[in-house]
Amino acid sequence: MAAVVALDLSRSGLRGVQIESPYTARPTISRFAALAIEDGTVFDGEIVDQRRAIAALKELWKRGGFTTKNVVLGISNRKVVVREVTLPALTGPNRSTSLRFAVEGQVPIDLDDAILDFLPLRDVETPHGPQQEGLLVATVRSSLEATVNAIERSGHSIDAVDFSGFSLLRLMPGPQRGTQAIINVGGSSTTIVISTAGTPRFVRIVPSGGDDVTRSIERALGVSFAEAEQDKIARGLQGGAATPRDVDAETVLRENIAGLIDSIRNTFSFWANAHPDAPVSFVTLTGGGSRLNGLTLVLSRALGVETAYGNPLGSFSVSQKARNAGIEPWGLELASSLGVAVGAKVSTKPARGASKASAKSSAKAAAAGAKQAEKDAKAAAKADAKAAAKGARK
Ligand SMILES: Nc1ncnc2c1ncn2[C@@H]1O[C@H](COP(=O)(O)OP(=O)(O)O)[C@@H](O)[C@H]1O
Ligand SMILES: [Mg+2]
Repeated sequence: MAAVVALDLSRSGLRGVQIESPYTARPTISRFAALAIEDGTVFDGEIVDQRRAIAALKELWKRGGFTTKNVVLGISNRKVVVREVTLPALTGPNRSTSLRFAVEGQVPIDLDDAILDFLPLRDVETPHGPQQEGLLVATVRSSLEATVNAIERSGHSIDAVDFSGFSLLRLMPGPQRGTQAIINVGGSSTTIVISTAGTPRFVRIVPSGGDDVTRSIERALGVSFAEAEQDKIARGLQGGAATPRDVDAETVLRENIAGLIDSIRNTFSFWANAHPDAPVSFVTLTGGGSRLNGLTLVLSRALGVETAYGNPLGSFSVSQKARNAGIEPWGLELASSLGVAVGAKVSTKPARGASKASAKSSAKAAAAGAKQAEKDAKAAAKADAKAAAKGARK
């Protein structure tokens, strides 16, 4: 199989990883490059400024010395909706159209501008005949198209696209026993994937991430985003405020994280209610936002579940060249895009359909009752200090 470049699109920069023998059990990473980009080029994993993105993509290829134009992409953002649905078994060439009709009314989304994908998990007998339980993923067509267009206009072609929730799990399937939750904390959204024996069972995307923490510090201290970012990274959840200014920054940081923890807790409760026999038994953390100093400890205490960082580069042989280019500290950020190149190639055969509404309802859920989580975060952060510093990059 020809080499591919796993492309990671982030607000702060682009990252590219050239992978030899992709779609196998143990591919090789041959090259790596990271490139800082101007604010407003990428938001929440999607290209929003075509012109700047095209220039940056060309520069990234130059910098990385990438020898292939084939790109793989992991997609997850606040507009993606994933729901558990039961559908009549869909087969044959009209599967896409059938999917569009089958999910009508089953999901809280408008089906006019969505790309739909269905991952069947289980055959079930129903009064209406044999059906399949599975996960429906709805992506907004227009925003994905803008990203794909920019990539193609910069001279590259898309070899595979997958929903990040699934790619994360392919990369980090977890053990055969127990229930794993992968939590990828990105800049603007957080993807939660609950799985058993490597199979995704339940997915939620929370419209909140590390950049929201930075923005709250920016507002509280009246500093620039870049300064707030530095403050956040240095401060973490360790506590010990000495000045009124410190107290302000610490308070908003903790409130923000408390809100995120609350959304995660709601997701876990929702899952546990439906599956009381399989509560989440451990959490695997990825994404740049998970580097917040002290987060593993605060999370494990607030959720009552063992929490550890994932090792996204662990599934690859990594060349010396890629190491020299500085790939190692980027593992957590790269997880969702790397996962697209691991294991069997996904053949995404998208169907016309749509998604808008549910960002609203999940935003509501995220905002709901952050009090308890805040208390937990405060209590845990106090005792915490250094334990999670291991995962911090800077
Ligand atoms: N050392 C750190 N401590 C806290 N947050 C960090 C650290 N390093 C990166 N981040 C945060 O990670 C987020 C970006 O992570 P990333 O996985 O690249 O997100 P996305 O894929 O959504 O763009 C940003 O909010 C950034 O502030
Ligand atoms: Mg990313």
